[in-house]
Amino acid sequence: MTRILFSAPKTDWDDYREVLPAALAAAGVTAEIEHVLMPDAPETVDYIVYNPSSRLSDFTPFTGAKLVQNLWAGVEQVVGNRTLTQPLARMVDDGLTEGMVEWCVGHVLRHHLGMDAQIGRTDGVWDPVVPPLARDRRVAVLGLGALGQAVCAALVALRFDVRGWSRSHREVPGVAAFSGAEGWRKAVAGADILVLLLPQTPETENIVDATLLSLLAQGAVVINPGRGPLINDDALIAALDAGQVGHATLDVFREEPLPAGHPFWAHAKVTVTPHIASATRPATAARVVAENIRRGEAGEPFLHLVDRDKGY
Ligand SMILES: NC(=O)c1ccc[n+]([C@@H]2O[C@H](COP(=O)([O-])OP(=O)(O)OC[C@H]3O[C@@H](n4cnc5c(N)ncnc54)[C@H](OP(=O)(O)O)[C@@H]3O)[C@@H](O)[C@H]2O)c1
Repeated sequence: MTRILFSAPKTDWDDYREVLPAALAAAGVTAEIEHVLMPDAPETVDYIVYNPSSRLSDFTPFTGAKLVQNLWAGVEQVVGNRTLTQPLARMVDDGLTEGMVEWCVGHVLRHHLGMDAQIGRTDGVWDPVVPPLARDRRVAVLGLGALGQAVCAALVALRFDVRGWSRSHREVPGVAAFSGAEGWRKAVAGADILVLLLPQTPETENIVDATLLSLLAQGAVVINPGRGPLINDDALIAALDAGQVGHATLDVFREEPLPAGHPFWAHAKVTVTPHIASATRPATAARVVAENIRRGEAGEPFLHLVDRDKGY
């Protein structure tokens, strides 16, 4: 019998307690799932399904674990854990991806169409400003992974002029893709809208600084559903105040929840959303977890393994 430790808060367990056993059964895996802080005989646990906000932080006792399967796409809270010597997989989930595409497209279209000029308008002023077509709007997407590529595909389908950037070169249909340490300069040059879908690593921290912001088109919009530390907050506020950036829609922050007194809350050119751009969806994510466990039991390579050196 395969032993699985479900190491996550009770709210997650409530979400997964039915769908995960069903997904495992559908994958042909016979397993016992335990939702406890520390199980008996931890050395015989085969898999750990992990939410980084769980209370488990010492993986040392799990000497027999074949995989730690993260429930989140982002792994910055666990990848540096020195007790974690087992392989680590991040979450790539259709539901999570679909949600991110919808959120990004919605916020890109808000700014592209200038919706704010009409929503809530009560002054009786008839002001017919026709927005440009998407083909004349340049969008830069930094990060061309599972989420970035899906967002690009949706933006390309709407005919936006899309540029992208990743560490290694990625062929993304309809996207002018750049790569390498300096590739971001070409991706963001003259962009009207910047979408951040990079992971948080030492290399990506503060990548959105005064220099990068100065390369965008004047009045550009910054949309960040990636991670808060990608942005130098002071540089962003300075660029907003100077008019170089017209608006920032931010879903993620250095400190979450964003403290009540943070300048982003009160800034007229900032929209704060409370880390809801997307979420792992238990029904689809359970199938991903089950498939990785099936692979482990069959001796097949795991999906979505994290590269410890790269940090994502
Ligand atoms: N706000 C939310 O609700 C929410 C929800 C889910 C995820 N997220 C965030 O979204 C991030 C992206 O998720 P994902 O699943 O798309 O990740 P992913 O598949 O690992 O893709 C990451 C992308 O970033 C690129 N990258 C990483 N480091 C880089 C560097 N130093 N220079 C250039 N490119 C670099 C990677 O390049 P390569 O292609 O060359 O590897 C890859 O294209 C997550 O890490 C998480 O922080 C947020």
